[in-house]
Amino acid sequence: MAKSKKYDINKLTLEEKILLLTGVNEWKTYSANGKVPQIVVSDGPNGLQMFDDDNNRKSATAMPALSLVAQTWDKELAYLDGETIANDAIENGADILLAPGVNIKRTPLNGRNFEYFSEDPMLSGVLAREFIKGVQDRGVGTSLKHFCANNREKGRRVQTSEIDERTLNEIYYRPFEIALEAKPWTVMCAYNPVNGVYASENKKLLKGVLRDKLGFDGLIVSDWASVQNPYKSIKATIDLIMPYNELTLDSVKEALAKGNISMEEIDYCVENVLNLVEKVQNSTPKMNYNKEQRHQNAVKIAKAGITLLKNEDNILPLKDGGKYLVVGDLSETPLGGLGSAYVQTDYVQEPVAKLLAEKLPKSEVGYDRAACACASWAGSNRIKLEYAKRVYTEAYEKDAVIVFVSGDTESESFDRSHIKLKKEYEEVIRNLARYNENIIVVINATSAIDMQDWIDDVKAVVIEGFAGEATNEAISSILAGETNPSGKLAESFPYDLEDTFTGDDTGNGLVEWYNDGIFVGYRYYEKYGIDVLFPFGHGLSYSEFKYDNLSIEQTGECDFTVSYDITNVSNVDGAEVSQVYVKDVFSMVIRPEKELKGFEKTFIKAGETKRVSVKLDFRSFAYYNTALDKWHVENGAFTVLVGASSADIKLTGKININLDDSTQQSQALVGR
Ligand code: BGC
Repeated sequence: MAKSKKYDINKLTLEEKILLLTGVNEWKTYSANGKVPQIVVSDGPNGLQMFDDDNNRKSATAMPALSLVAQTWDKELAYLDGETIANDAIENGADILLAPGVNIKRTPLNGRNFEYFSEDPMLSGVLAREFIKGVQDRGVGTSLKHFCANNREKGRRVQTSEIDERTLNEIYYRPFEIALEAKPWTVMCAYNPVNGVYASENKKLLKGVLRDKLGFDGLIVSDWASVQNPYKSIKATIDLIMPYNELTLDSVKEALAKGNISMEEIDYCVENVLNLVEKVQNSTPKMNYNKEQRHQNAVKIAKAGITLLKNEDNILPLKDGGKYLVVGDLSETPLGGLGSAYVQTDYVQEPVAKLLAEKLPKSEVGYDRAACACASWAGSNRIKLEYAKRVYTEAYEKDAVIVFVSGDTESESFDRSHIKLKKEYEEVIRNLARYNENIIVVINATSAIDMQDWIDDVKAVVIEGFAGEATNEAISSILAGETNPSGKLAESFPYDLEDTFTGDDTGNGLVEWYNDGIFVGYRYYEKYGIDVLFPFGHGLSYSEFKYDNLSIEQTGECDFTVSYDITNVSNVDGAEVSQVYVKDVFSMVIRPEKELKGFEKTFIKAGETKRVSVKLDFRSFAYYNTALDKWHVENGAFTVLVGASSADIKLTGKININLDDSTQQSQALVGR
């Protein structure tokens, strides 16, 4: 722990020191009687959520949720997202942004999945790292959260996540480890206990892993009101208890008197606070986007993240000159993040029907706003019937119908109770499909949806996610063919909840046993041969791409450059996300069928070929060996798989790793 150069710990009284370890209110740190400048922290992951003195939310740019940023698979856009939110933070005087969240999407039920990136640790970590760079390069700090294993909302303040060491290292620590490369100023702990001890009191987790093993040297902040025993949290190296916790002063004083905490332990955290204050003071935040540009950044990210899952008969993009009907009020007022990720924007979105009519001037675009809402009415059957007759007659007369739907509510504090669309939406889709064979479904949800009951009745499915204030602009642009979709799923879409490892089991209220181990997401479906509706990494384009000429060049003992050509064989310019997976062919331990180890998003003009290169290193081949207590690469054969998704492998190559004998354990060839 380096000593702060600017603020002398010796000038503080014991009381001031202790009070520095908790806020003065929800969002501000303590001033130690004017000796230490205060820091202002503020949410959140999809835009700034900040409150004025009357506790009203200030207006900010509502950016796409991180789950949609993940679907861009684009490092530059993750950076741009961070930069854009930092601009709002600077404009409103926030020193530290409480984002990004990098927890793994272990179950599609998790109410906070929209705040997280992916089911894959590498994709999550890399995009979080770029997001952090984007924010911090503007001079604003970040808070990488929630360390660790915060994967569902149900029981989030009580239920312990019980996880073995290897799984923690390979799946749950890993995204943090990668994101830490960007040196976030702070890390926030999780609400939940991990292996029986609250994350906020878990010294092994915070000091042993986060600081000593993963090398984090910044400030650890508690999640809001996650601290029960202040002195225990400070012993575990929580430096800042947020918000103001009235127990802190007495708890720490008493513990000190009884010898339950030492002055060194207190000073350690105080220095971390002083160092952070110094960092904030030394930083000169700089905005680089005006309000309109921030909005345009949101649109750019949304367009790149919206994901086309199905497009039978190339029904999309819509052809100009057609007769179309837009159905459902979500096409006017789309859903967005809730809880601490709610953003108050003053941007007024135009309805999709209006935007489509502008983009397709020769077309006739009708709109039935009440369609979905009406289906859920407990109102009179006569009204329902009149409505039904109207909308289905309209649908019958059109060339295609675009229907906007959503699933169960997604929010912080509770989970989804199922992964289907809302009942009334399913009903509307099936009914519309009776009168029109060209149904296009746009889903306003951020995690996997079970589509079994209707997917065969529709021509196209698009995931618009939570795209913030850019939603309607971005989705209309894609539907109208102005933008070529290039998003790909950052999580697998199973057929139904029962196919997920966790199913509807949410733990017993006290313990959730992560006995899926390292087999999370596609690692699980592939290991156990379970078919999915849409695989991890899947997403369609209006272009068509061809992969060939794989070469793998060895550049070091464990370093390789994987290169391949992608040709856009269509007549539409587009971007392709190519994914590089690695499979360990023979191993002393059980391993996933394959794991994502690199990816690239490449814009390729119609008819053009681009050579893409992805680097692999030690970590691309290593697993976490619990006997050695470190990452370990076992000599032998590995397969490199280059795919358009985890299930659409285009090219494969073989490599052999021959590290020095001294690094190897006794070998046995264990088949699987
Ligand atoms: C959330 C955090 C958030 C904090 C402050 C907590 O309830 O879990 O993610 O940053 O509140 O709003």
